[in-house]
Amino acid sequence: MGFPITRLRRLRTNPALRRLVGETDLCPADFVYPLFACPGKNIREPIESMTGCYHLSPEGIVAEAADAAALGIPAVLLFGLPESKDAIGSQAWAPDSAVCQSIRRIKELVPQMLVITDVCLCAYTDHGHCGVIKEGRIDNDSTLELLGRMAVAHAHAGADIVAPSDMMDGRVGAIRKALDTEGFTETAIMSYAAKYASAFYGPFRDAAHSAPEFGDRKTYQMDPVNARQAMREIELDIEEGADIIMVKPALAYLDVIHRARQRFDLPLAAYNVSGEYMMLQASAQAGLINGDDCMMEVLTAIKRAGADIIITYHAKKAAQLLRS
Ligand code: PBG
Repeated sequence: MGFPITRLRRLRTNPALRRLVGETDLCPADFVYPLFACPGKNIREPIESMTGCYHLSPEGIVAEAADAAALGIPAVLLFGLPESKDAIGSQAWAPDSAVCQSIRRIKELVPQMLVITDVCLCAYTDHGHCGVIKEGRIDNDSTLELLGRMAVAHAHAGADIVAPSDMMDGRVGAIRKALDTEGFTETAIMSYAAKYASAFYGPFRDAAHSAPEFGDRKTYQMDPVNARQAMREIELDIEEGADIIMVKPALAYLDVIHRARQRFDLPLAAYNVSGEYMMLQASAQAGLINGDDCMMEVLTAIKRAGADIIITYHAKKAAQLLRS
């Protein structure tokens, strides 16, 4: 039965009708808000490469977490900047790191806020790689124990979920084992399961001071040409004990999100990364697009593709618009 009996415009007549038949419903509860914790006191340093983002010392992180909670955002994702860096990234598991201090304070002052922590060595190593270096190569197996230590330190401070983003093989299993051995059986793992070697991380690496000193991340992060391989990465992480899986970046990988959604029943997260965020910020600032409208369109697309959870620097702004 086609035209003129069928007219698809009928259900687009007014906003209420469009809302009634809308297939995708974005809401603040879908968002995770990433924050950058730095050591010190009363530091709120704008991050040059990422408009609207800041390096925050622990009390500033708590204030942001409280803001986010008031907007209905259920979780923050913490990245840390260390006081000093070394070859193995030993500040990553320091019990008084900026991340651990921030976790403890959030849990004390904004207890309803879920705290997710990024588990990776790149911001803590002097060479900027996500693993330990042996004979000029990123060594997989000796990195695993260190990631376990980092996850345990975060769990100890009170993290609800740890999120390994290093892309070493076997890290989810190693982290699960380390957590369980220390009695943190309730700490969940959100694995950056299908994480691509993407140029869209550029602004973040300036923000986290985590650009590799030599080479690139292509021996551990995935090659953008592969989608089937992403399913294998995700499958292995699930076998090793991941509770939530992630595809990253989001926008250039909507097909991967869609495939993962069809294939797996775990909660699925997508990371709307720094370069994707800044594309919108920069073009809005240049007067080329309506930034708010494009932001909502992009976040809706990520959800429509199949993500349950959207990690985004837009979280606060988007939650504000959704609630107004
Ligand atoms: C750490 C990590 C990165 C991002 C999240 N965790 C950078 C990288 O892998 O180089 C990127 C986040 C973003 O671009 O917003 N490994």
